[in-house]
Amino acid sequence: MMRTMIAGLALALSVWLGASPHAAAQSPAADVQVTIRADRPGPVINPNVYAQFAEHLGAGIYEGVWVGEGSSIPNTHGFRNDVVAALRDLKVPLVRWPGGCFADDYHWREGIGPRDRRPVRVNAHWGRVPETNAFGTHEFMAFAEMIGAKVYISGNVGSGSVQEMGDWLEYLTSDTQSALANERRANGRAAPWTIDYFGVGNETWGCGGNMRPEFYADLFRQYATYIKLRTPPERRPKIVASGGNDEHTEWVDVLASRGGHDLDAISHHYYTTPSGVWEHKGNALGFSEGEWISSLVHTMRIDDYLTSNERVLDRHDPQGRIGLYLDEWGMWYSPTPGREPGFLWQQNSLRDAVVAGLNFNIFHRHAKRVQMTNIAQMVNVLQAMILTDGPRMILTPTYHAFHLYRPFQGATYLPTETRAPRYRLGAYQAPAVSVSAARDTEGRIQLALVNLDPNREALVRTRITGAAASSAVGRVLTASAMDAHNSFDAPNAIQPTAFSGVVEGDALVFRLPAKSVAVVALQ
Ligand code: AHR
Repeated sequence: MMRTMIAGLALALSVWLGASPHAAAQSPAADVQVTIRADRPGPVINPNVYAQFAEHLGAGIYEGVWVGEGSSIPNTHGFRNDVVAALRDLKVPLVRWPGGCFADDYHWREGIGPRDRRPVRVNAHWGRVPETNAFGTHEFMAFAEMIGAKVYISGNVGSGSVQEMGDWLEYLTSDTQSALANERRANGRAAPWTIDYFGVGNETWGCGGNMRPEFYADLFRQYATYIKLRTPPERRPKIVASGGNDEHTEWVDVLASRGGHDLDAISHHYYTTPSGVWEHKGNALGFSEGEWISSLVHTMRIDDYLTSNERVLDRHDPQGRIGLYLDEWGMWYSPTPGREPGFLWQQNSLRDAVVAGLNFNIFHRHAKRVQMTNIAQMVNVLQAMILTDGPRMILTPTYHAFHLYRPFQGATYLPTETRAPRYRLGAYQAPAVSVSAARDTEGRIQLALVNLDPNREALVRTRITGAAASSAVGRVLTASAMDAHNSFDAPNAIQPTAFSGVVEGDALVFRLPAKSVAVVALQ
């Protein structure tokens, strides 16, 4: 028995550690049957499910977004033109800023007024590098306006005060003649801003103060009281409490029962590592098929975590008033050799795009409570949309996955029934194809298909109940290697190509390539 277990473990390990990112030769196509229940529409998928997270971390803001007006990198008022254009095209609905862990060590007053008079601090969480404060409140708000996004600001609970947070809200939103409102005007912004969401701290169980949920629930009530008091009712943001980060539901339980009536949403964080072991995460490139499948299976755990947290919320809040926001998610790999480990720079491959598609399909199923998710992070950090190198910029496979899924923003969820064989390797297994459908804001049915299997294409026969379609046209993202990626020398090595289905009897049939993400519009 013991020997069998050891042999099994050795097989699993050898599969996991094998070095080639090229999967084995193609097997015959997998037969997949999908039914889209257009007759049973569900909730609207909030556009904020496709939101982003941008922290003062590594080159996430400085270089990634902000290069300053004097830079030789083409910019408008200091914001790099290439990044702004790419993000506009992505239709980013909302950006969360300034952290992350950074938020609970950030003092907003240091980031306003003439830039040459702003104090230089140390970014204590991320590499202990100088933080010039050149990118502050006005720069963030201008940037969000430039890319057409709403804003979600995370306030400082860990090392700040109730007064500091209240003052920030008044500075941002007041239309009175108060000293704070006039200071904002003197700094160049006449009209008050609308702050859509405001977070009371970040990861308060860890970098945000190492608190217990009961202690934080009381603090949340206190902070939320003054956020409301210092903001005019017509510009009051939704107030977000910082919640948990794993399978446990304690934070949601305590916050939903004791967080008070000002609590609009509770956040949750979940990062995927290929190994599932934080200390030995696994590499961004050059990985084995074992690491491919383990990354996908670990990603899908979020489905259960959301379900168990929703159950607790349903008990405390049966009317569904409180949102569950996954305001940090994505792949987190071992440090990239040659890069400062504290900057969390990592490459991004086809695997990341497949992970993104899997996540989106899961988020859609939870659309009722999960009204916001923020990928970590937008530029140059973790599972980024964009990587920059001086004046050069590349779009990652994750960017392309977000781009494919744009029609799902604000679409109405349609349930699907799927019969698919399982993709198995070593100790891991999952359905070979993941599916999601929705009716977009223009009335078309959008279908998303993710093929998890890197070796086998799928023949997907799709039927619709309650609607008809005679064409299916869209795009697919795939490549021959599991770790296919764009680089500064080959910026378009992987990008979406045209993809369509054919009518066969009462079904639309798709030949879905191995290891791919596709989105098609059915008409
Ligand atoms: O996204 C990087 C870090 O991950 C964030 O600062 C923190 O909230 C989380 O632990």
